[in-house]
Amino acid sequence: MLEARNLYKIYNTGRKPLEVLKGINLKIEKGEFVAILGPSGAGKSTLLHILGGLDSPTKGEVYFEGINLYNINERERARIRNKKIGFVFQFYHLLPEFNVSENVYLAGLVDGFHKRREYREKAKKILSFLGLEERLQHKPNQLSGGEQQRVAIARALINEPEILFCDEPTGNLDSQMGELVLNYLRELNREKEQTIILVTHAEDLAEKAKRIVYIKDGELIRESLRTKIPT
Ligand SMILES: Nc1ncnc2c1ncn2[C@@H]1O[C@H](COP(=O)(O)OP(=O)(O)OP(=O)(O)O)[C@@H](O)[C@H]1O
Ligand SMILES: [Mg+2]
Repeated sequence: MLEARNLYKIYNTGRKPLEVLKGINLKIEKGEFVAILGPSGAGKSTLLHILGGLDSPTKGEVYFEGINLYNINERERARIRNKKIGFVFQFYHLLPEFNVSENVYLAGLVDGFHKRREYREKAKKILSFLGLEERLQHKPNQLSGGEQQRVAIARALINEPEILFCDEPTGNLDSQMGELVLNYLRELNREKEQTIILVTHAEDLAEKAKRIVYIKDGELIRESLRTKIPT
């Protein structure tokens, strides 16, 4: 479903070029639940953005369902993202002018405005499940960090994307809410066969995935596959 071939990302911000990704190769099948685990600064978010069609690599290719994502124009890429890809950003990126409900259901309207009622209801359902039914009218700056994180999760889920990228999705949640979110993701993966790629530096979180890919200094250093997943 998703394949990265020899990905490099080099930034020329400082005095010498910074190689953040150094030849990443990764293949993900439909329906997988993969955790990408690595220390801060390892290149996890950079990799996730490139895999999700949000940021082009300096070198290398990403194939999503057979399409070379960076060989098509931005419009086509955006269309694929809107229809098939969900993204939970590490720093949320909520729209500050819109309230919680709008932040979530507007993301569902890429198919057209006529579905707004349906999506507003759906947004309410997901947000209620995530404990935000009393916050629908709040603007992002009237929310706690963990609440904003949950809105970002709801927004990514509204379209029932085929593939969901989550960047530290529980980083700001307490352990109980973190567990609820993680179990929800696992359920989506099991029951709707949504492919999930979760980035984290928390080992206990990665442990819940069947496959763990370890990244360090921009390289995949190791992989582990488990047959038995702790509940
Ligand atoms: N736009 C940019 N310009 C220059 N350097 C960048 C840019 N974005 C990221 N970097 C650098 O690339 C490295 C990897 O960043 P990245 O955000 O991918 O790390 P990460 O593994 O997600 O870390 P964390 O766990 O802290 O979120 C960091 O050292 C960062 O400083
Ligand atoms: Mg990161």
